[in-house]
Amino acid sequence: MKWIKVYQKLIVVSFSMVFTGILAGTVNADVAGGQKIFEAKECGACHLTKGPNQDKTIEDKLKRKGPDLWFAGSKFKKEWLVKWLQDPKSIRQMAYNSIEKKNPGDHSKLSDKEASDVTDYLMTLTSIDVVSGTIQAKKDLMGKMVFEKKQGCYGCHLSMRGAKVAGGLTGPSLVDAGKRLQGDWIYAYLKNPQAIIPVKRMPTYAGVLNDSEMKSVAAYVASF
Ligand code: HEC
Ligand code: HEC
Repeated sequence: MKWIKVYQKLIVVSFSMVFTGILAGTVNADVAGGQKIFEAKECGACHLTKGPNQDKTIEDKLKRKGPDLWFAGSKFKKEWLVKWLQDPKSIRQMAYNSIEKKNPGDHSKLSDKEASDVTDYLMTLTSIDVVSGTIQAKKDLMGKMVFEKKQGCYGCHLSMRGAKVAGGLTGPSLVDAGKRLQGDWIYAYLKNPQAIIPVKRMPTYAGVLNDSEMKSVAAYVASF
């Protein structure tokens, strides 16, 4: 008798799983559509969408033609992503993976509808190492100290210094980082770069900055 009950329960559970699956399928129709567009346009020739990244050496990294997108849903603000795909303004001053060549600023553009579908698809790509709800963007004083004095993050990154854009050119611009990036991703990247970008040209701050300094600088950058 007991077993029959267990079986009945199992049947109900599996039916409801199939049913929610079908519902999710119809609700997320543009996720599948976005993935199709992504594949048809061969975005994957330059962007990794299946993580984690397995690069071991700088040579592995130099083979990549564009930044990883396998954590796009944990990294970007959705409103920024949909706009950028329609009108991609340079983020890096230098060409990807280069310290000599200028960014040609010739990224392919998508139409409104394509950008919206591709955004829905990319926002489903997340990393379990990025815990949402940890970092609140704020003009954190300790974060500012780390960014400007203690570590000189601005030496490689553009940001607003007063009313002027200033800073180094080797890293991506952080001028509009708060509109573009999720603070939780910035924190995860600083704390555990191995899980996010295993081979990078940015120094590792885990072990150099303590946890509250990493949280503060992530909150500070997320306020840009
Ligand atoms: C020829 C290689 C190439 C192709 C093809 C390509 N991209 Fe890119 N993509 C890049 C490079 C290089 C950058 C960095 C641009 C910058 O920093 O200004 C980039 C940046 C991005 C970014 C921002 C990522 C970040 O971390 O800053 C997104 C999102 C993106 N591409 C999506 C797409 C989509 C969607 C497609 C297909 C429609 C596509 N890309 C096709 C090379 C490519
Ligand atoms: C020596 C140069 C250098 C310094 C110093 C540096 N960075 Fe970076 N940073 C980079 C480079 C290069 C990348 C791109 C990483 C990659 O994909 O290889 C990067 C990437 C980033 C990103 C991701 C940006 C994006 O759009 O993908 C953030 C956020 C960031 N750095 C914050 C910081 C903070 C905060 C500090 C100071 C604690 C700092 N950086 C110091 C060079 C630097």
